[in-house]
Amino acid sequence: MKKEHLILTLCTLFAIAIPLVQSISEGPKGVEKWFKELPHKKQRVTKLHFYFHDTTTGPGQTAYQVFESNISSTTITQFGRTFMFDNPLTVEPDARSMRIGKGQGFFGAASFEEPRFLMNLNFVFTQGKFNGSTLQFLGTNPILNRVREMSIVGGTGAFRLARGIATAQTYFLNDTSSIVEYNLVVLHY
Ligand SMILES: *[C@@H]1O[C@H](CO)[C@@H](O)[C@H](O)[C@H]1NC(C)=O
Ligand SMILES: *[C@@H]1O[C@H](CO)[C@@H](O)[C@H](O)[C@H]1NC(C)=O
Ligand SMILES: *[C@@H]1O[C@H](CO)[C@@H](O)[C@H](O)[C@H]1NC(C)=O
Repeated sequence: MKKEHLILTLCTLFAIAIPLVQSISEGPKGVEKWFKELPHKKQRVTKLHFYFHDTTTGPGQTAYQVFESNISSTTITQFGRTFMFDNPLTVEPDARSMRIGKGQGFFGAASFEEPRFLMNLNFVFTQGKFNGSTLQFLGTNPILNRVREMSIVGGTGAFRLARGIATAQTYFLNDTSSIVEYNLVVLHY
């Protein structure tokens, strides 16, 4: 599992073209064949590590408010206020470091009591052996906690039938942007 992580890091750092684990645009026949072969496939573990850059105002804005409730502006947790985002994923905290994909989806304030978001997004990978593959991410994010644990509930391409755990740790935060460090451990075939 260390190896997979290393391979992703290496091929993202140096943009080495590694053949795809499997074609990701095989169509319905290819997917059927893949399922037929499933009993012979070995489950594997892939570890991913990257930084997620969220910017809610200013020139580099990547997250935009799409709706709110009629109590968002009067509740301490801004209940219901929801942003749709298309956020870069990079190998280092520096936003100018190598991009390995995007985190696309929405987060919204889902608690009356504390700053806690519903997170619903896709990690869309664009580099190396995972180029074109995606992971589906769903969870509850108590954003002030040092470490938050959320679920990987599925995947496509190299990550078909994925399940896993993502941990998030805030690396940087101010009024307009945040950088979140993500560690993913993913079971897939
Ligand atoms: C919010 O909307 C609901 C239903 O439309 C209404 O009953 C309620 O009074 C509104 N609350 C506020 C604070 O405006
Ligand atoms: C990723 O895949 C797309 C579509 O197949 C291709 O156009 C692109 O060049 C690939 N990117 C890298 C870095 O391999
Ligand atoms: C927040 O940090 C970003 C990245 O360093 C910076 O561009 C932005 O100006 C900062 N915003 C505020 C309000 O300090």
